[in-house]
Amino acid sequence: MTLEVEGVTAGYTREVPILQGVDLTAQQGLVTVIIGPNGAGKSTLLKVIYGYLEPRAGDVRHFGKSIIGLEPKDMLNEGIAYLIQGHSVFPKMTVHENLELGAWTLGGDRAAVQAAFEEVYDHYPRLKEKRSQLAGVLSGGEQRMLELARLTMTSPRTILLDEPSVGLMPKLVDTVYDEIARLKEKKYTILMVDQNVKKSMEIADYVYVLQLGQNRHDGPQQDFIERLPEIIREWI
Ligand SMILES: Nc1ncnc2c1ncn2[C@@H]1O[C@H](COP(=O)(O)OP(=O)(O)O)[C@@H](O)[C@H]1O
Ligand SMILES: [Mg+2]
Repeated sequence: MTLEVEGVTAGYTREVPILQGVDLTAQQGLVTVIIGPNGAGKSTLLKVIYGYLEPRAGDVRHFGKSIIGLEPKDMLNEGIAYLIQGHSVFPKMTVHENLELGAWTLGGDRAAVQAAFEEVYDHYPRLKEKRSQLAGVLSGGEQRMLELARLTMTSPRTILLDEPSVGLMPKLVDTVYDEIARLKEKKYTILMVDQNVKKSMEIADYVYVLQLGQNRHDGPQQDFIERLPEIIREWI
C-alpha cells in the first residue's frame, strides 16, 4: 500500500470538525480520484496528507511509514509532491527558473539536476522552447504543464493533485488529463481531487466519494460509471 489514510479527523478550529474519520488508500501506478460536493473536505484531506494540517485523530502512512507530524518541507524527502488548487507558477521567474525550484531537492548533484532537466525538456518541447521566457506570459495550459513538469523534477513517488484542470479551456483540459495518464504510466502513485467528475472517470482506477467530511462511497472506476448520475444527485 503506497499511501494509506486511516480514520483521519481534522479541522481548522477545535469547534468545527471538517474531516471525520476518513479512510483512503492509493496504490502505486494507479490514479485514485476523490470526488464530492463543494466543501466536502477534499482539499482539506490533501492538506492533511502533505502536512499543512495536523489531524486530531487517525494516521497517514506512506510506504508503511507514518508521516503524521511531518511538515510540507519534509515531503520532498518523503517523495510526495503536491499541486495545490489554483495557480502556483512564479510569474516573474523564467520557465527554467521555475523548474530549478523543483530541482532544488536534488541538492548539489549537478548530474541529477541535468538529467531531470533533460527528461522534462524532452517531454515538454514547448517548455524547452520557452525556457527563457517569464512563466507569467505562458498560456494557462502551458502554465499548468509547467506546474506538472515541476512536480516531476523532484522525482516523487506519490503525486497529489488538487483540481488540475480547473479554469482551463476545454481543449487544454484534455491535454492535462493526457498528461496525468502519462504520469500513471511512469508508475507514480496519483491521488487527485477533481470537480470534473466526468473527465476524471476517464483516467481513474479507483474512486472515493467524500461527503460532509466522511467516506460516502468507494470502489473501482467501473463501478462508478453507472452509479455516477445517482451519486451526483445526492449532492444537490
Ligand atoms: N483555511 C481554512 N480555514 C477554515 N476553514 C476552511 C479553510 N479551508 C477550508 N475550510 C472549510 O473546510 C470545509 C472543507 O473545505 P475544502 O476541504 O476546501 O472542501 P472541498 O475541497 O471538498 O471543496 C469547508 O467548509 C471550508 O469552508
Ligand atoms: Mg477543494
